[in-house]
Amino acid sequence: MSAEYKNVVQKRHILHGGFFNKTLRGWQALRTEITPQNLMYPVFIIEADNEVQSIPSMPGVCRYGINKLKEHLDGLVKNGLTSIMAFGVAESLHKDERGSNADSPQNPVVRALPHLRRWFPELTIACDVCLCPYTSHGHCGILGQNGSIDNSKSIKRIAEISLAYAKAGAQIVAPSDMLDGRIGSIKSLLIENNLQNSVAVLSYSCKFASNFYGPFRDAAKSSPASGDRKCYQLPPGSGGLALRAAARDIDEGADFLMVKPIMANMDVLKQVTEKYPEYPMFVYQVSGEYAMILAAAEKGVFDLKDALMEILGSYRRAGADVIITYYTPLILDWIRLKH
Ligand code: PBG
Ligand code: ZN
Repeated sequence: MSAEYKNVVQKRHILHGGFFNKTLRGWQALRTEITPQNLMYPVFIIEADNEVQSIPSMPGVCRYGINKLKEHLDGLVKNGLTSIMAFGVAESLHKDERGSNADSPQNPVVRALPHLRRWFPELTIACDVCLCPYTSHGHCGILGQNGSIDNSKSIKRIAEISLAYAKAGAQIVAPSDMLDGRIGSIKSLLIENNLQNSVAVLSYSCKFASNFYGPFRDAAKSSPASGDRKCYQLPPGSGGLALRAAARDIDEGADFLMVKPIMANMDVLKQVTEKYPEYPMFVYQVSGEYAMILAAAEKGVFDLKDALMEILGSYRRAGADVIITYYTPLILDWIRLKH
């Protein structure tokens, strides 16, 4: 070693000595590890109990009838799966102004919940709560006279739907509508029904209007018939509104927070986790991110597993506790093989 090297390099700046083998590298990255507890798996549930439908815009992801979902989840639970997020899809169910079928006895999620709880007692089940898959206009709330969202009617309805899912067995309700006051409205109704200690509220608190939801809207058949969601989902440029939305939802009693989509909003994730370290933080790797990463891997840009683990590790590093991802089945396989 030259004298010059010794002189110019401060001892604490010699980094390579801290990661020269695999174990040491593992120690440097322990806070970014992915275990089954760090994953939540979104599932689409359809009315036809014995059907499986592939989704062309999301290769490898399917919609399941309850009996087929049972078979699918059986293997995953054995592989370590701890939680799912259920989305209902209405095909023959009638769609109307107020999304009546979001919480009717015919709703696929309402029907599936008691079975899922019985089949998988150790699995934690969250339900997405929104009107868009069930309304004739495809918006996330009830529309008023002028065609814009009637906020107070909408959050009353969102709470009703949450209560129906809670009564059917959901342990977590997750409103994705982004309307003001929905968390408070849900919590109040849970308290009125004495369910506040057995049902958690996961708020899609920092949810941006995004180009990355396209494949999901195919999957859930929930595209707006006209217009867009820019007046209720956050403007992508606004970090300020994202922090205010998190503050609003915490104030109203949210148990868990979320940033969605995650890839283009990691600065928000970092800020929210630093500002509210008391709250477990969820991030949603949404449908467009799923499809984009898969397409890149198929084009030979990178190896799917290596790239995905790098991406997911970065979410953990930025503060994510739980990652909601359509890749969950693959990741469970990979992490099982690793240990
Ligand atoms: C419904 C909802 C959406 C997603 C989750 N819940 C779509 C939207 O808001 O338009 C997106 C999930 C994804 O893209 O994977 N409100
Ligand atoms: Zn919606």
